[in-house]
Amino acid sequence: MQVATVEEPHTGPGQIRIGVRASGLTTGEVRVRSGALRAMVPVSLPYRTGFDAAGVVDEVGEGVAGVSIGDEVFGMTASATRGANADFAVLVAWAPRPAVWTWEEAGGAAGSVETATRVLDRLALGAEQTVLVQGAAGATGSVVVQFALARGATVIGTASEHNRQFLQSLGVVPTTYGPGLVERVRALAPSGVDAVIDCAGGALPDLVTIVGDAERVVTIADLDAAAYGVHLSHGAPNDAPTDGTGATTVPHADPLALHGLTTAVTLADKGLLRVPVAAAFPLDQVAEAHALSEGRHAPGRIILTNTARR
Ligand SMILES: NC(=O)c1ccc[n+]([C@@H]2O[C@H](COP(=O)([O-])OP(=O)(O)OC[C@H]3O[C@@H](n4cnc5c(N)ncnc54)[C@H](OP(=O)(O)O)[C@@H]3O)[C@@H](O)[C@H]2O)c1
Repeated sequence: MQVATVEEPHTGPGQIRIGVRASGLTTGEVRVRSGALRAMVPVSLPYRTGFDAAGVVDEVGEGVAGVSIGDEVFGMTASATRGANADFAVLVAWAPRPAVWTWEEAGGAAGSVETATRVLDRLALGAEQTVLVQGAAGATGSVVVQFALARGATVIGTASEHNRQFLQSLGVVPTTYGPGLVERVRALAPSGVDAVIDCAGGALPDLVTIVGDAERVVTIADLDAAAYGVHLSHGAPNDAPTDGTGATTVPHADPLALHGLTTAVTLADKGLLRVPVAAAFPLDQVAEAHALSEGRHAPGRIILTNTARR
């Protein structure tokens, strides 16, 4: 990983450019870099990282309405080009930065917000249901649980013992993952669990047993999902062709739940959504940031900041 000088990106139709204040590190990109996703994600080098970012609009593309130069926004890049870990980023989806969010929170929000909305929509999770979130203290899990709570659900979340208080502070009933999970969850939810969201991978047999129906489990992290009859949700590339109805034509991918960005602003303004930030690194320490992510225990999102702009 290294910082390089490249040509400035510019907007196409329907896009905006921001001067980036903070951007997110995605665990998926860490796995792309390590080679773990080699079979699934073809990469040509040099590969630019960063899917979500926040900053100040400095260029508005043709056909864009409702946003002006100088506005503070958060959002996401096109899936193919990425490059949000930079001075400038071109966004294809965005929303105004909630006043209560720091730049770091806003910079790491869009990916987790979209993923949370996508999986909760798929499970049609609503009020008075109980959901188990595996890996609830992570960058994605910690946002999934807040969206689930905002829908009125009861949320049981798994994490290491040291994250117990963190989960409680979010309003989650905490437990640990690992052996005995089925029994621990049964004790916490004697009437049963309505749905399971797996943000960690590696425990699908237990998770299916807990809910009693593989169709009520969605994983974002377990590549063996099909073997257990479980849906592995990954978002369709936002530059993918559609069939004219807005439906994606990429096999097995779920449409991106971009409406989640607007919901996030509403929730944040009501004090119902923070973006837990595990650590922030200046851009030139991106390798250290990847190393922290590879440990798989950072509580929340890892952020890259543009100190030169702050
Ligand atoms: N498909 C998609 O659309 C999509 C989108 C975003 C992310 N993802 C994937 O989802 C996964 C999580 O992403 P993230 O960004 O949230 O990662 P993260 O911030 O690194 O969080 C991972 C969490 O997993 C927990 N964990 C570690 N080992 C575990 C185990 N053996 N069993 C259960 N939990 C364990 C950790 O909890 P403790 O620290 O409490 O131990 C940590 O909070 C990654 O595989 C990522 O690639 C997929």
